[in-house]
Amino acid sequence: MEIVESIVLMQQRMMSARAAGKTIAFVPTMGFLHAGHLSLLEEGRRRGDLLVLSIFVNPTQFGQGEDFEDYPRDLQQDCALAVAAGVDLIFAPSAAAMYPAGYATEVNVSGITAGLCGASRPTHFRGVCTVVTKLFNIVQPHMALFGTKDFQQLAVIKQMTRDLNLAIEIIGMPIYREADGLAMSSRNVNLDSEQRRQALALSQALALAQDLVKQGETGAEIVAAAVCRHLGAQSQVRSDYVAICHQSTLEPQQQIDKDSVLLIAAFVGQTRLIDNGYLMDLS
Ligand code: PAJ
Repeated sequence: MEIVESIVLMQQRMMSARAAGKTIAFVPTMGFLHAGHLSLLEEGRRRGDLLVLSIFVNPTQFGQGEDFEDYPRDLQQDCALAVAAGVDLIFAPSAAAMYPAGYATEVNVSGITAGLCGASRPTHFRGVCTVVTKLFNIVQPHMALFGTKDFQQLAVIKQMTRDLNLAIEIIGMPIYREADGLAMSSRNVNLDSEQRRQALALSQALALAQDLVKQGETGAEIVAAAVCRHLGAQSQVRSDYVAICHQSTLEPQQQIDKDSVLLIAAFVGQTRLIDNGYLMDLS
């Protein structure tokens, strides 16, 4: 496995891989890899001839006062996990290389970025779209894998890929969870043991909502209120949003149907966590 920091070298490597007829599968991450990231790599390994992982804690997607400085990092461990996952190439650029002095271009997707995480983090998706576009241009993948854990991010990337006619297949992967249901996240290490316990309220609230719908409840307001009550019962959980939206447009819904997704963002102590799930069994 090779670790490449240089953008020019990475582009050369990827051009030769394409010239040799290799299919490039790409998993962009901010590192501190966990089993959720590894599930994306496993699928990428299965689908591509060449598996590329990027590790870059992108400063432009963190707002003022957010956790950019505190975001967990461990490149050595990430490399060991990447080798085990069969990664061929890690791209790990510096922030100075990605955003040199005089850098002035941003990619902005409107509409779908306005609500949910975009409402509480107004510059976040501009940062994500900009860095993902840059990474796509550097890695030149045939396909890129993203988790549905970041449901809105995946929808935004799909929209951007469509709108900009990028010849990249965007593959959404299921949420990987701890045995007790907590969605895996690099940020989970920031929870102390009591917060870790209380963080379960997110996946529990999701299950509770799915149960209510199974019992016949289709009123979005009623289900969302039950979710809020469940989150509110934990002293260290403060919900940021609880929303029931259409899976593709992310427009809020009044009536729950097969396209409804429940999206939750909540602070547990200082740590902001997200979770989501479909409300009607799709099988
Ligand atoms: P990061 O949070 O490191 O996540 C990298 C990828 O792993 C994303 O596609 C995310 O949805 C996926 N992922 C995270 N937790 C997961 C879980 N529990 N199960 C399945 N997949 C999971 O998302 C980012 O980085 C950044 O915004 C990035 C796209 C790299 C741009 O900087």
